[in-house]
Amino acid sequence: MTIEWSAETREFHLRNGLVSYVARVLESGWFGHVYFGSSLAGGKSYGHLGPNDFTGYANRLGEPVPFEYPIGGGGDYRIPALTVELADGSGVLDLQYKGHRVIDGKPPLAGLPSTYVEVAGEAETLEVTLGDDVAQLEVRLTYTIFRDRPVIIRGARIANAGKAPIVVGCAMSSSLDLPDDEWQLITLSGEWTRERHVERRDLRPGRQSVSSNRGASGHQHNPFVALVRAETTESSGEAIGLSLVYSGNFLAEAEVEPFGTTRLRAGINPEGFSWTLDPGAEFASPESVLAYSSGGLDDLSQAYHSLFRERLARGAWRDKARPVIINNWEATYFDFDEPKLLAIASAAQKLGVELFVLDDGWFGRRDDDTTSLGDWRVNTAKLPGGLESLGRKVEALGLGFGIWIEPEMVSRNSDLFAEHPDWAIGVPARSRTEYRNQLVLDMTRPEVVDHLFGVLSAVLGSAPISYVKWDMNRNITEPFSVGLPAARQGEFMHRYILGVYDLYERLTTAFPRILFESCAAGGGRFDPGILAYAPQAWTSDDTDAVERLKIQWGTSLAYPTSSMSAHVSAVPNHQVGRITPLDTRAAVAFFGVFGYELDPAALSDEERTQVAQQVEFYKKWRDVFQRGRFRRLRSPFEGRRDEAAWMTVSADARSAVVAHYQILSRPNPGPRRLRLRGLDPAATYRVSTWPSVVQEGGLQPRPLDVGGDVLIAAGLVLEGGRKSAEAGDFRARVYVLEAT
Ligand code: GLA
Repeated sequence: MTIEWSAETREFHLRNGLVSYVARVLESGWFGHVYFGSSLAGGKSYGHLGPNDFTGYANRLGEPVPFEYPIGGGGDYRIPALTVELADGSGVLDLQYKGHRVIDGKPPLAGLPSTYVEVAGEAETLEVTLGDDVAQLEVRLTYTIFRDRPVIIRGARIANAGKAPIVVGCAMSSSLDLPDDEWQLITLSGEWTRERHVERRDLRPGRQSVSSNRGASGHQHNPFVALVRAETTESSGEAIGLSLVYSGNFLAEAEVEPFGTTRLRAGINPEGFSWTLDPGAEFASPESVLAYSSGGLDDLSQAYHSLFRERLARGAWRDKARPVIINNWEATYFDFDEPKLLAIASAAQKLGVELFVLDDGWFGRRDDDTTSLGDWRVNTAKLPGGLESLGRKVEALGLGFGIWIEPEMVSRNSDLFAEHPDWAIGVPARSRTEYRNQLVLDMTRPEVVDHLFGVLSAVLGSAPISYVKWDMNRNITEPFSVGLPAARQGEFMHRYILGVYDLYERLTTAFPRILFESCAAGGGRFDPGILAYAPQAWTSDDTDAVERLKIQWGTSLAYPTSSMSAHVSAVPNHQVGRITPLDTRAAVAFFGVFGYELDPAALSDEERTQVAQQVEFYKKWRDVFQRGRFRRLRSPFEGRRDEAAWMTVSADARSAVVAHYQILSRPNPGPRRLRLRGLDPAATYRVSTWPSVVQEGGLQPRPLDVGGDVLIAAGLVLEGGRKSAEAGDFRARVYVLEAT
């Protein structure tokens, strides 16, 4: 890994054997982009790739010159990275290269989540300073390259070095100019209970984007996009990823201009955003992660998975085996008391479950969703001995104890709202829109964050709590804070999320042993920003096994299995009414952080035996499920056979678990194979199946010894034939591979 600078050609070259990133100071003094892609040789100039002799837009208006941090108003009509309003009302800038420095490692980003380094020599950061002497504005662009990852981490800081305020209207985290438009755009889009479905479309002239203006990254779109070639598959072809380490309003946008080049940018959504920079002040963008793969989407995903798992997630739980959880929500909803909860916990413990989570309804007068958010005091009618007594009893059963909270919310019907009606977001003299009967607290106000830290610290300190599910069930409306002056209301949405990060930072620091899981009505804030504080997230409120295939597949494009909480729930499924076999539900949930969301007492003896076997199986392969290399094999979004398949391989490739899902049964399916990836071609693997095939009616039991080369090149012979068709819909087969 090096960051080269040539004073002669005024070129930077960041490279590490996996990727190269080349940028150049142009003849005009502006900062131009040259190249991002596979690693190039060091010690050479790549300036000939263009643009040549660019002295400015004089007589060249509209030419698609590649820039590192484009500005509007000066002849570049494409989407800008930076827009400002200066004291005279103008927005014209001339960003000249002023200097640069190379920093060992990666400086932290105060107040914002970010990737980090742990050991010396792991990464280097280039900081390039650009400046406009008339505006007295400085832009510091940072580029971090890791020794052994195909990623470049980018961010921007905008500083006011003058004497008059400057208003920033747009300050992207990254802008990347690509020399052609032969790309397809992949986004992860959907809605509540169907989050992060893969959307793939050709780029067309003009702009195409995904964004959020909800105050959270949202169920609808994820702050991750990829550009791929038409021929790119999981295992071959080019892919460029752009991920934003941010949980608030975002924009990720591609523009194809008439000459057929592409600009890709991502950052805080400029719509509704403005930030006033007083003299001497600086604004820092969230950071963004650019990744490059010439080996298909799989390699791109591996880059994000390992970075997010190893150098974004933090704290004691980052590398620890995550417990198998039982959550009472779908078992009881709000209708519970201590004996009922203990019955669930005790039954679950007998099946091997490790931690019991008490979901919504334990506080205030909350017997339904109309009251008490904000009143974080235990409801002693339901839990006479409080959280402490329940927690001790749960612990005595041999389980860890966790609780649900929704810190950012307040019910109109609550003591908190009665005391502090102005703490709820809204415009005075206008009505506030409710959703799920709740309002959102104004996290831009330090007194609100202080209050929440105080009351939640008291709760978390009052009982033996080792896990917290931090929910966030609605988006922001009527964005406005009585705590901000009129000129700063455009800062509201960003300040909101900074307040959320502040609270997360303080609570995770004060309670370092607690495992935090984030949730936002399922996957409504599943992004790298929150993952920096909470290493796992409730992937979706949809626990149906078939729906989860798509949700987990899409999520896995950017996020590791260790971040995806996945539970087995009861049937008929509460979200879609579908009835799937218990083992299929488990076979999907295995590929995440596993748990249950049902009442074990309501299961039959046979089902309880199955659950015990599932938990035992998961624990045995937990490390491979949570920390293995997850590889997608057959997409539930494509293909003609109504199937899906994926696998996860241990880091040393000595063991792997493969799952094949036959969604609808097919008549007369014939023999089929599944080509695997990531195995050691020289190893011989013992292949066995789960659940035991004998149990399902007389197929020939495995194990079988097969070479890694055969499994990769020819494929794994799938169980099946006529028998599997007779078994019915929604079937899963899990194969375990162990090198002999
Ligand atoms: C959200 C969550 C659920 C559950 C409920 C409780 O919908 O996603 O898992 O915690 O809130 O109200």
